[in-house]
Amino acid sequence: MERLQKFIAESGYCSRRKAEELITQGKVLVNNQIVTTLGTKVSGKEEIVVEGKLLTKEEKEYYLLNKPRGVITSVSDDKSRKTVVSLIDTDKRIYPIGRLDYDTTGVLLLTNDGEFANILMHPNSKVDKVYIAKLKGIINGEAITKLKNGIELDGRRCEKCRVKLRKKDLKNNTSTVEIVIHEGRNHQVKRMFEAVGFEVLKLKRERVGIFTVTGLNSGEYRKLSPKEVAIIFSLKNNK
Ligand code: URA
Repeated sequence: MERLQKFIAESGYCSRRKAEELITQGKVLVNNQIVTTLGTKVSGKEEIVVEGKLLTKEEKEYYLLNKPRGVITSVSDDKSRKTVVSLIDTDKRIYPIGRLDYDTTGVLLLTNDGEFANILMHPNSKVDKVYIAKLKGIINGEAITKLKNGIELDGRRCEKCRVKLRKKDLKNNTSTVEIVIHEGRNHQVKRMFEAVGFEVLKLKRERVGIFTVTGLNSGEYRKLSPKEVAIIFSLKNNK
């Protein structure tokens, strides 16, 4: 059973907030009865009519995008910047799963399936998020150990994580570091490196769980296969 407004939003008819408005305005019928109570639960077997239109469940879609730099990870933008959703040719109400910064590149998944998104984002699902960070300066063992043990950000400690030095470029005074996290806090990777004294010059997400951008140029995307979707749903019990 799920809340009527959630069901309407997931059908792709409108946003959850708009659905709440329509319910309270008496524009939603469940089995021919007007329903104005927001907490009403439905199973999906009912006949639900919104503003005279019969709802059908929206088909779920799942995409993997190789996010380019200079695109915002959002459904819309008030400053009319290009969004990741605008790169994908679909009429479904898809949204990005988690966020990558405007200048971060690499693996980004998008869907209209809330359950799939929740599984991927939940830290208990232990989905690896592998980032490659190019840093200003040459990172040392002490900083790497601190990162591995979990840096405190905003008074809350990040989980322990894996960190590996991939390359030192003494000539240009930069280091390339691989970091694997399971959380998705705001600007987490940049802030973790900042906390140990290193500025991130470039950031790429190389892998999320089983997904990499192999075969996709920057800005290209593909649909996930049913098998890939099933693998993510199989993580559900860990959640
Ligand atoms: N951490 C960041 O700091 N930025 C990103 O885009 C992703 C993770």
